[in-house]
Amino acid sequence: MKHLSRRDFMKRTGAAGATLAGKSYLLEAAAIPPAPARTPPSDRIRFGMVGIGMQGSGLLGLSIRLPGVQCVAACDLYDGRHVLANSIIERATRKTVPTTRRYQDLLDNKEIDCIVAAVPDHWHAKIVVDTCNAGKDIYCEKPMTHKVPEGFEIIDAAEKNHRVVQIGSQRRSSIIYAKAKELVESGAIGDVRLIEDTMGRNSPCGAWVYPPPPDLSPENLDWKTWLGDAPPHVFDPIRFARWRAYKSYGEGIPGDLYVHLLTGIHYVMGVENPPERAYSLGGMFQWDVDHRDYPDQMSTLYDYPGFRALVRVTLDNHADEVVRFLGTRGTVEVRDESVSISHQDGKNHAPCYYISSYPPKLHAEYVKEWEARHRTEPGTASTTEAMTYYAPPGYNEDRDHLWNFFQSVRTRRPSVEGPHFGNNTAIGCHMANDSYFHQTMARWDEAERAIRSA
Ligand SMILES: NC(=O)c1ccc[n+]([C@@H]2O[C@H](COP(=O)([O-])OP(=O)(O)OC[C@H]3O[C@@H](n4cnc5c(N)ncnc54)[C@H](O)[C@@H]3O)[C@@H](O)[C@H]2O)c1
Repeated sequence: MKHLSRRDFMKRTGAAGATLAGKSYLLEAAAIPPAPARTPPSDRIRFGMVGIGMQGSGLLGLSIRLPGVQCVAACDLYDGRHVLANSIIERATRKTVPTTRRYQDLLDNKEIDCIVAAVPDHWHAKIVVDTCNAGKDIYCEKPMTHKVPEGFEIIDAAEKNHRVVQIGSQRRSSIIYAKAKELVESGAIGDVRLIEDTMGRNSPCGAWVYPPPPDLSPENLDWKTWLGDAPPHVFDPIRFARWRAYKSYGEGIPGDLYVHLLTGIHYVMGVENPPERAYSLGGMFQWDVDHRDYPDQMSTLYDYPGFRALVRVTLDNHADEVVRFLGTRGTVEVRDESVSISHQDGKNHAPCYYISSYPPKLHAEYVKEWEARHRTEPGTASTTEAMTYYAPPGYNEDRDHLWNFFQSVRTRRPSVEGPHFGNNTAIGCHMANDSYFHQTMARWDEAERAIRSA
């Protein structure tokens, strides 16, 4: 971590308009070695890619550029994404890989060590459990589950088969959140009793009004398999592209966005259980389109042992993602690609305003006496300067998260975001929806492993 002068900072980040409070530092990214020209086949981690849609195409492009990592096959139910997968792979390696509609082909393939899966949420549990049972490791996108019981099935399958399961909430590998955790754990901001986590979007794209691929048809998409164990439905390109908005396949705002915010909170605060209680309010205000099930605004107050967290996401107003850890001695704030710390000493810095209610003589005496008691000798004042830490330009937390996964596969080190962690944040998302739809407090029942209406 290097200290930066303001001029250096401007030069390195091009942040001409940035407001700098206190000192600024540039964080160093994790040391991922450069890709060697040739890695011996015995040293390579070989993965199969399942789901090459919006997220999967990005994960594929990042993974194949990591040193010693090779994609050997790709799977999707839509043939257009076989073409996409090979265009991504060919650009980076000048080679192509076999493609299939059946992920079971990848599980049967002895050349494949592990799977990277980026499929809609209603498919996560089955693919993770099948992969573990086939003796392979898996990186599966967030949120870990679509329904609560699935989380415990995934944990059992991972433990029984001694498999690495990593969930794809990239904040868990972010150097920014690691710094926030270090600052909070150092005690520099005292006791954190409240966290605010907010973000917003305000565009059709932000509200999941995604344009389906124009050529999508029952001929080039296996629609029946895409539905999985969801209720039968006629072929529908809108559902294919905008699945997040429907209860049968996704979890709306909590599963899509809260999960990232909860990941940051659980990581920084060292949370190892689901929230105890959740209370949500929200509504459908701007995006009541496509007969979708989920509201476009949700705010949830979570109750954790020792602190509360207020999580608010709207699709009706754009706002940066900002999380504030509010401590008794200061604030740690994560915003954009930075984390800052500011301090509070918790003391009065002037006679308390209450004395304006005193008669004038008493007021004057109180002020005189207060000032005498609080006089600071010149040169003895202690100040704690605010500090901001920036990620380096071009920093990519997805890349670090994937690298952590492949390193776990290689070394058998436990994954940074294993199924217990993924299950806890996913349960937090399900509790938010449960509270919203039942219009009452949701309570986590640990003994019964179920959400109850309180
Ligand atoms: N970590 C992040 O920041 C982030 C961002 C976006 C999406 N995601 C997650 O990634 C996952 C995928 O989201 P997306 O936006 O890329 O969805 P998408 O609809 O764009 O792509 C999903 C792909 O999976 C394929 N698919 C579905 N079921 C399949 C099956 N059984 N076998 C093989 N292929 C199957 C579909 O045909 C589709 O091409 C979701 O879990 C989502 O929550 C994570």
